[in-house]
Amino acid sequence: MKDLEQALLARSRAYTPYSNFKVGAAILLKDGTYILGANIENASFGLSNCAERSALFSLYSQGYKKEDIVSMTIVANDHGPVSPCGACRQVMHELLPKDTKIVLANTEGKTMETTPDGLLPYAFVLDEKPKDE
Ligand code: THU
Repeated sequence: MKDLEQALLARSRAYTPYSNFKVGAAILLKDGTYILGANIENASFGLSNCAERSALFSLYSQGYKKEDIVSMTIVANDHGPVSPCGACRQVMHELLPKDTKIVLANTEGKTMETTPDGLLPYAFVLDEKPKDE
């Protein structure tokens, strides 16, 4: 419940003059800290940043690491639990631990639980790639 409250608090900080679709993300850390992120839009639309990436970039920027993360909750006023975009799925897959509990929610309290692999099966990862000659 606290997780959803924190995600709603993050959502209240969204800057969305263009879409008016507000999204909030709250990442719980092992020490009990929450790192919040909201979507921040721009008149040059392509420069807008989603809530999920705002939260994760903020977390790393503040000196926290993947190992500090327990769970991530994302909320929006959508028909069902909010569905993160493809770009965020790729970023979440790399920056969250493999077993992270990800809770997708809407403002009516509908939720679903998933993981980084659940959101992005067969993700692109920068492991050792074969090299051309
Ligand atoms: N958006 C997010 O912040 N997260 C999502 O999971 C989906 C989309 C934002 C981007 C844009 O500011 C607005 O929602 C409408 O696309």
